[in-house]
Amino acid sequence: MRGFLSLITCFAILQNVRGWREFSRGRSKGGNLGLPGGDDLVRGEHEKVTTEWFTQYLDHSSPTDSRTWKQRYFVNDQYVNQRRDVAFLMIGGEGEASIQWMTKGAWINYAKKFNAICFQLEHRYYGKSHPTADLSTENLQYLTSEQALADIAYFIEEMNVKYELSPNVKWIAFGGSYPGSLAAWVRQRYPHLVYGSMAASGPLLAEINFSEYFTVVYNDLKGTGGDKCVSAVKQAFYQVDLLTRHMVGQRNLDKLFVLCDSIAGTTSSSEDIANLFETLNGHFAETAQYNKDNRMSKVPNNITLDTLCNIMVNDKLGPEVNRLAAVNDLMMKRNNQTCLDYKYDKMISDMRNVSWGSEVSEGGRQWYYQTCTDFGFYQTTDRIPLDFFIKQCSDIFGPKFNLTIVERGVQRTNTLYGGLNPSVTNVIFVQGSYDPWHALGINKSTKLYPAVVIDSASHCENMYSPSVYDSEALRQARIQIEEFIGNLLKSA
Ligand SMILES: *[C@@H]1O[C@H](CO)[C@@H](O)[C@H](O)[C@H]1NC(C)=O
Ligand SMILES: *[C@@H]1O[C@H](CO)[C@@H](O)[C@H](O)[C@H]1NC(C)=O
Ligand SMILES: *[C@@H]1O[C@H](CO)[C@@H](O)[C@H](O)[C@H]1NC(C)=O
Ligand SMILES: *[C@@H]1O[C@H](CO)[C@@H](O)[C@H](O)[C@H]1NC(C)=O
Ligand SMILES: *[C@@H]1O[C@H](CO)[C@@H](O)[C@H](O)[C@H]1NC(C)=O
Ligand SMILES: *[C@@H]1O[C@H](CO)[C@@H](O)[C@H](O)[C@H]1NC(C)=O
Repeated sequence: MRGFLSLITCFAILQNVRGWREFSRGRSKGGNLGLPGGDDLVRGEHEKVTTEWFTQYLDHSSPTDSRTWKQRYFVNDQYVNQRRDVAFLMIGGEGEASIQWMTKGAWINYAKKFNAICFQLEHRYYGKSHPTADLSTENLQYLTSEQALADIAYFIEEMNVKYELSPNVKWIAFGGSYPGSLAAWVRQRYPHLVYGSMAASGPLLAEINFSEYFTVVYNDLKGTGGDKCVSAVKQAFYQVDLLTRHMVGQRNLDKLFVLCDSIAGTTSSSEDIANLFETLNGHFAETAQYNKDNRMSKVPNNITLDTLCNIMVNDKLGPEVNRLAAVNDLMMKRNNQTCLDYKYDKMISDMRNVSWGSEVSEGGRQWYYQTCTDFGFYQTTDRIPLDFFIKQCSDIFGPKFNLTIVERGVQRTNTLYGGLNPSVTNVIFVQGSYDPWHALGINKSTKLYPAVVIDSASHCENMYSPSVYDSEALRQARIQIEEFIGNLLKSA
């Protein structure tokens, strides 16, 4: 929500990114699972992927509501053999589905090995899958994880017929981040349709006050740059806090962080200040969440926790707050941002846009709605209080969306699915220990299911294609996951 260009640059001939910052609330623009990196597409392979549309019910909870809409999906049937008895489903999530995943990523390697037909179903309300005419609060009532799971169930039934799959076909679901949770829940809810799942980095527990998120980020900084890095970062935020409190300091902040709107001489609300802290904290959060993964990237993917810690401990750059400003410069440059936004009202006004053509329709508005009604997941710190997030629910979606509603939604989600104790089999839960989201995921095997925590790995790291930079722990995890899928497909 920061980084919209200020009015000054309305002659935007420069290829600037306006509107949303690349990362907020632990969510990347476009969705949390990035695009798979690695080799360029093998010519010919990509051409065999087809884009299709499925007629889906709007409201699965109502047997008398006959309204339908078109849900997008991709199919790749070049690896399946004549038996047609293995089907893989990549579950779409909180961003547009990408055709890139249809020929790349770890699951494609498994599909080649196990002769699977591959489907990817875009999540309702994201990408090009528009169930309603716009994104009004009223229309968003059909955006729930339960509706998304029912979408998957109807989809599977139809695909079995349309693609003439074997009566004994085994569907294996794959998902990373929120779809990681969906992958587990769809097996739990529809075991007659889904035989097993690989659930990567799924936050299975809904939680309002997700303060553990930044605890993990700080642990990662410690693991990377030691106590020196952590104390420099803490000191820098302390200095920013002091500077917000007086005029001379505020002028410094304007310059240091290239603020779009001057903080000096204007009245800043407590939400503006929380917003500023959230943006600056976000630089570390994003870097931790995606540290050293093998995503495909429009921009050099070379900003890691090492990069940030090296800057933060470099006393040649001046006091800690100046080093933080250097981190901010680096991230702004990478995002093509010319100034840093922090104004709360600007952000809210963007988020209120209900048009499919708006910038927030890439998923920012939809995902925020899901946090207000289903999940919470608010990444609080000492300086970014819970009220700041709850206020956004009511400011964006209406006064009805207050703490009571969020609490009820979170309780409902955990009641529906069982939180960290789901009753589910044939699912492998995969986490990265550096991924801040792992704090809400399953990290321990039980009699029902295995769980793998990959040391020092980031968000959904195992879903990208193997790379020469893979750690030994990641390599081992990849083997374990492949064996798990192999065993599912072997057993009668
Ligand atoms: C959120 O959790 C943190 C850490 O446990 C705690 O300090 C804070 O008071 C909590 N906030 C609210 C509003 O409960
Ligand atoms: C990342 O790579 C780009 C282009 O190769 C280079 O200009 C930039 O300095 C690198 N950044 C870091 C932090 O290494
Ligand atoms: C920044 O601009 C460059 C050059 O136009 C472009 O290649 C790159 O994708 C842009 N980066 C982002 C994050 O949009
Ligand atoms: C919503 O976004 C669209 C597309 O960017 C824009 O044309 C429209 O003016 C915006 N609406 C409001 C109310 O800001
Ligand atoms: C939320 O709003 C409802 C009425 O719509 C009210 O009963 C409830 O007390 C409010 N909750 C909070 C925490 O303000
Ligand atoms: C595993 O998850 C439990 C429950 O959330 C948590 O208490 C524990 O600290 C986690 N262990 C690790 C190593 O993350």
